Amino acid sequence: MRLRVVTAFALIGVACAQADSETGEDDIFEAQFDKPDPNNRWTKDVDVKALAIGEETFLPEEGALFDGFARDVTNMQERLELANKRKLRGFHAKAHGCELGELRVRVPDSLPQAKVGIFKDNKSFPTWVRFSNGSGFTQADKKTDVRGAALKIIHGGPALRPELGTGTQDIVMTNGANTLAYNAEQFVAFGKALTDARVDENGEDVGILEKLQSTGGFILRPENSRVLKFLLTRALPRVKFKGSMLSEQFWTGGAIAMGVRGDPMTGRASAAAKLTAIGGVLDRDGRCRHVTDLPNNRDASYFRTDLRQRIKNGEACLDLQIQFQTDPKKQPMEDTSVEWRERDSPFTSIGVVVIPQHDPDAPAALERESFCNDLAFTPWHTLPEHRPLGNMMRARLPVYRESAKTRGGNPREPTGNEAF
Ligand code: HEM
Repeated sequence: MRLRVVTAFALIGVACAQADSETGEDDIFEAQFDKPDPNNRWTKDVDVKALAIGEETFLPEEGALFDGFARDVTNMQERLELANKRKLRGFHAKAHGCELGELRVRVPDSLPQAKVGIFKDNKSFPTWVRFSNGSGFTQADKKTDVRGAALKIIHGGPALRPELGTGTQDIVMTNGANTLAYNAEQFVAFGKALTDARVDENGEDVGILEKLQSTGGFILRPENSRVLKFLLTRALPRVKFKGSMLSEQFWTGGAIAMGVRGDPMTGRASAAAKLTAIGGVLDRDGRCRHVTDLPNNRDASYFRTDLRQRIKNGEACLDLQIQFQTDPKKQPMEDTSVEWRERDSPFTSIGVVVIPQHDPDAPAALERESFCNDLAFTPWHTLPEHRPLGNMMRARLPVYRESAKTRGGNPREPTGNEAF
């Protein structure tokens, strides 16, 4: 067993060294969109210098591709039923907590461009928050994985896609500013590789990096060098140093529109932005104070234990911040593995999500949690002003819809009038 793990890391080390010497770059996730990955069909042959703010690249065949991704994910859910005992989310299967709180929008007057859609007025909205691990199966929190935080803000207004339900704005985030895959196609291929590893395995749970090594070397293939590098330089360190959901920072990874010109589904976004949410506990002055906590590796669900303890003792919070696209060359829309650097465009706080202090073991709290877990969070639960942008976001329209259907999720959006 030990030998297998050591071998995996040795191989990964060699592959990383190769990736570095090939690119000659210190950090492949830094802005370098003038040299996009040649395997990314959404950036191939695109003149990046001619791109405008908010501009996307649509491919004629992409609708069929996205429907294919939805079928792939449904297939993953069916295969993972063996390991999960039931059909769960295609990604982010394990929840650490699912809570009802409140978003208090507080856009500073110095940032009028953010006063759009859900952020137009400094109002408060009931908001569901689901914290999760990234993979489509449950495993101990100490295993290498991405973490997620999904918000469902209940505003009662119109929807860009009414067939998915109305009245809500979802903000779906993971704990990386950029994504491990450069596009949706690579993202789904990664999910399939994880599934292959998981369902073939009948022994000890060894963690994502080792599993990928045992599944035909998905991350060792040259075209997946960014995925490998992401796992080693971004995902793995976080697993070692973060022991609380409230010590994490989450990002949307993909962009949303801040207003759209013309047809809400196809028109050019007037502005594009990414969001981040920084976890913490609310102090006496109403500030969201970031938590610093090391993982307790003996507890397989340490995030859940930690969150419940903190909610029992006080108010938990997420400081919500926005970052605008200012240079399409440095801040690409169709390659989310390239980070929008804060030194090119800073984040500004525009509100806070507060989860009230309560006893998470009380029967009403458990009922709320189960209701929340059944909900469907998707970037496509959105006001028309905030259309999700870029292939990584567009692909998620059919994929999340089908994943929620397959796992028997609640097809209705909450209204805020539920008896909780
Ligand atoms: C910027 C990139 C992405 C981020 C930040 C992200 C984040 C998340 C998060 C936080 C969840 C959990 C939502 C919940 O708590 O219910 C989730 C679920 C999911 N994600 Fe993503 N994701 C991204 C891209 C993708 C892509 C490209 C795909 C596939 C094409 C995908 C497929 C899924 C699926 C199938 C679910 C489960 C949906 C459900 O059953 O309700 N995600 N994602």
